[in-house]
Amino acid sequence: MTFKPAVWPRKLRSQEWYSGTSRDTIYHRGWMKNQGHPHDLFDGRPIIGILNTWSDLTPCNGHLRELAEKVKAGVWEAGGFPVEVPVFSASENTFRPTAMMFRNLAALSIEEQMRGQPIDGAVLLVGCDKTTPSLLMAAASTDLPSIVVTGGPMLNGYFRGERVGSGTHLWKFAEAVKAGEITQEEFLEAEESMSRSSGSCNTMGTASTMASMAEALGMALSGNAAIPGVDSRRRVMAQLSGRRIVQMVKDDLKPSDIMTRKAFENAIRTNGAIGGSTNAVIHLLAIAGRVGVDLTLDDWDRCGRDVATIVNLMPSGEYLMEEFFYAGGLPVVLKRLGEGGQLHKDALTVSGETIWDEVKDVRNWNEDVILPVDKALTNQGGIAVLRGNLAPRGAVLKPSAASPHLMKHRGRAVVFEDIDDYKARISDDRLDIDETCIMVLKNCGPKGYPGMAEVGNMGLPPKVLKKGIKDMIRISDARMSGTAYGTVILHTAPEAAAGGPLAVVRTGDMIEVDVEARRLHLDISDAELEDRLSKWRPGHERAESGYAWLHQTHVTGADTGADLDFLKGCRGSPVGKDAH
Ligand code: FES
Repeated sequence: MTFKPAVWPRKLRSQEWYSGTSRDTIYHRGWMKNQGHPHDLFDGRPIIGILNTWSDLTPCNGHLRELAEKVKAGVWEAGGFPVEVPVFSASENTFRPTAMMFRNLAALSIEEQMRGQPIDGAVLLVGCDKTTPSLLMAAASTDLPSIVVTGGPMLNGYFRGERVGSGTHLWKFAEAVKAGEITQEEFLEAEESMSRSSGSCNTMGTASTMASMAEALGMALSGNAAIPGVDSRRRVMAQLSGRRIVQMVKDDLKPSDIMTRKAFENAIRTNGAIGGSTNAVIHLLAIAGRVGVDLTLDDWDRCGRDVATIVNLMPSGEYLMEEFFYAGGLPVVLKRLGEGGQLHKDALTVSGETIWDEVKDVRNWNEDVILPVDKALTNQGGIAVLRGNLAPRGAVLKPSAASPHLMKHRGRAVVFEDIDDYKARISDDRLDIDETCIMVLKNCGPKGYPGMAEVGNMGLPPKVLKKGIKDMIRISDARMSGTAYGTVILHTAPEAAAGGPLAVVRTGDMIEVDVEARRLHLDISDAELEDRLSKWRPGHERAESGYAWLHQTHVTGADTGADLDFLKGCRGSPVGKDAH
């Protein structure tokens, strides 16, 4: 840890707007006073933007206005001046065609809000899947002092005495209906149990994973990730974070001081230990790209390869985030990684302390939830990165959510050209498919869908489900919900819509998967593959205008984080000209 706090007091960027007696200053300051702010609030104290992703249409973040009040209280207490700023909120469960298409638009707009407005530091008030990475990307690009406060997970759901995990049980119930195991009426009845309090998904889905990634990166106070959304300690966390950001501004403790290569390696290993979402791969690659850390897919495979999954949460395990919190939460996991030599202990956090200092004295209160290493769900908890002629730039698989008997398999491809083709044919009893086949879905990548939909865990054909089969190998250029499970190979790059080899797979081709050898092979000759690729032509619609055009034209591959190519890198927060 080499960070040296800046000298305080000093002139902050917000004073470019509010300090002095010029006409422009009076213009900026005077307008702010219509909200009843006394003159002495503009005396050079840190102005803290509370970047709030609250929205009625982002239900997972629906309680963030209440949390914002606690953040404000903390900022006031520490001598700062809080300003709440609504920002782009991409809800996972409402945005079409997919929230992922708007992660970069959100990051772009929020970056400019941070740079173009008079704030000295930011509290990133987030929760739902894409809100956490988009605000971290914006903070990384502006490099303004920032701290993450997540809204926390929902309380456990229960249906007929059984725990119900967000998303995970949606997939399970849907497949049970298709298999004739439960009725549609029972499915509707179960709906009421799925979201019983404020907060984000209560499984170790993408929201909980990204909250954990923020904490493992050092960008949130220790213990933030697991506190339930309705727990009073969530509000305490918000208030403490409000206090802390004021000191971070005074010290000039920036994202680039915290999100170093060591921090990213800590996060990758943490993702393996928690059985985290494959979506973290894309988001961390994108965040790293913004802050200037050269993170690659190979880092994911290398760092995560020998990490044991010790958090027994759905979708890989049996419990939910509420129990994870009671067991001690992420600090226990970080401590375990540190004891096993799998944590860079000297990585700095927003607290100003090292990550090890934050966690070294915590205890595990429930070894059924946070397992001893010798009872780990799997010893290969990281993300496996497969390569071969079918995925020259890589594809990913989450071993902890996959079936051991399918980790080495050769099967006949059954190809769906896009998600509509899949939907049209999957339930047709005439579809020539059985459980030994490999389902292949094309044109669902960053350019193709567009936006890289979470459809990679496509449901199995009903005629296979009715045999009691729960898993088959599925390969696509899509993503998968963090709440989903199965032997699902995702993020195949280059994607089909960009002319990757996935585009030329045909039904009847044989495909070989060998996770141990990290191999994904289309069993045709090199000459045949070359011939098919030379004849391939883009077949899918391209937007001709608007953001969809910008996205399809500039989005990079999944292997580099699916960011917009012109947004990579840190542009800082220089104060621009005043045009008034
Ligand atoms: Fe928003 Fe899961 S859909 S957190």
